[in-house]
Amino acid sequence: MEFFKLHHPAAYQLQLTTLRTFVAAVLLLLLCCHPVPAIEVNGIRFKEIFSFGDSYLDIGNRDPKNFTRTPVGPVNQAWINPYGLTNPAVPTGRFCDGQVFSDILADYIGLHPRPYILYEERPSTRKEDGMNFAVGGSGVKDNLGFTKTRDQIAQLKTVINSGVYSETVYKESLILFTISGNDYYAFLRNSQVIGLAEIGIFIVAVVNQLVEDLKTLYNMGFRNFAVSTLPPLGCLPGVSAFTGSLSCLEVANVVSTTHNSLLKAMLTNSSSILAAANLIILDNELAFREILLNQIQTQFTSGLKACCKGSGSFNLCGDVDKATRTPLYTLCSANTISTYFFWDEVHPTQAGWRSVFNLFLGGEPFSFTNGKSLVQFLST
Ligand SMILES: *[C@@H]1O[C@H](CO)[C@@H](O)[C@H](O)[C@H]1NC(C)=O
Ligand SMILES: *[C@@H]1O[C@H](CO)[C@@H](O)[C@H](O)[C@H]1NC(C)=O
Repeated sequence: MEFFKLHHPAAYQLQLTTLRTFVAAVLLLLLCCHPVPAIEVNGIRFKEIFSFGDSYLDIGNRDPKNFTRTPVGPVNQAWINPYGLTNPAVPTGRFCDGQVFSDILADYIGLHPRPYILYEERPSTRKEDGMNFAVGGSGVKDNLGFTKTRDQIAQLKTVINSGVYSETVYKESLILFTISGNDYYAFLRNSQVIGLAEIGIFIVAVVNQLVEDLKTLYNMGFRNFAVSTLPPLGCLPGVSAFTGSLSCLEVANVVSTTHNSLLKAMLTNSSSILAAANLIILDNELAFREILLNQIQTQFTSGLKACCKGSGSFNLCGDVDKATRTPLYTLCSANTISTYFFWDEVHPTQAGWRSVFNLFLGGEPFSFTNGKSLVQFLST
C-alpha cells in the first residue's frame, strides 16, 4: 500500500508527459556521455585545505607500526584488515571501508592534501594542496592520548613557520574542523559518578575550547571555515547497542544535541570575532538523522547496524585472535555493504559519507548547513 501511494502519482504523470520525458531523457543522455569536466575548478576558490579533528577526517595520521592497545582500540587499527576493503581494497589508515569525509570534499574541490605524518617523516612531501592533521581518537581536550586539535594547529604553525606557504595561504585556503565525540567518550570513561550538571559543565568546556581553536586559526589569518557538528551520538552502533534494540540511545543524543545547539549559537554569534569569517556549519547531526531515521528513498536498508562488528563486548572491527589469527569480528557480505550507512561501531561507510556530502552540497532549503549550501560556499 505504501509502495502504491509513493509510486502511483509519478507513474501516472509519466504517461501524460511522455514527450517531455523523452526530451529530458535525451538531454540526460547528452549530459551523461559528453565529456564534462568532473569539477569546475575555476568556480572554486580554495587552493589548500587544512583539516583538523578526528577519525571522521583522518587520512592516515595514526602510526601504522604501533600496535599498542588504547581505550579505543589498537593505535594502528585503521591500518589493519578489513579497513579500506571497498576502496582501495587494502587498509590506508582511514577509519572506513574507503574514502572518509575529508577525501570526498577534497576530491570535489580537486585538491589532494597529504597527511601530516608523511610530512613529519619526510619534509619533501608534497604540500601544495594543504595538509591533513586530523587523528582518529582525538578531540579538543587531552583525552585518549592522541594529538588534540590545539596541538594539531600548533603543528600547522610549525609548517607555516618553516616557510612552505606564501602569505596568500590564509585567504585562499579552507579550514575543515570536525570533532565527533571522543571528548565525551573519554569524559564518561574517566568519571566515576556523573550527573547531568557535570555533563552540562563539560559540554560548555568542550564547545568553548572548540571555538577557541577556531579563533586561534582566525587570529593566524585564516578566514574560511567549514565546521562540523557532532553526529547523533546515541545512534552510533557502538552506543545504540546499549538499548538492546535497533534504536538510538536518546540520553546520549541529548549530549550531542546540547553540544550542537551551543556550538551553532557561538558560531553564529554576531559579537564574536568569527562573525567576520566565511563559515559554513556542516550539520552531521541533521544529515545522519535524515539518512538513518527518515529512510524513505535511501539505499541504507541496514539502518543502525554496522557492517564490521567486533564479536563479544570487548573486540572491535579488525581484532584477530593473537595465536590463531582468526577474526574476532563479523563482516557483512560484500554484496550487502552498499546497504550499510555504518562501517564499524562509530564510523560511516564510504557510501554513507558520500550521501552525507550530497546533503551538504545542495538541496533546498539548506537545512543541513547554515543558510547556504556547500556548493554556494565553495564557489567564487
Ligand atoms: C604507541 O602508542 C602509544 C599510545 O598512544 C604511545 O604511548 C607510544 O609512545 C607509541 N609508541 C611509539 C613507538 O611511538
Ligand atoms: C556572543 O559573544 C559575546 C562577545 O564575545 C558574548 O559576550 C556573548 O555571551 C555571546 N553570546 C552567545 C550566545 O554565545
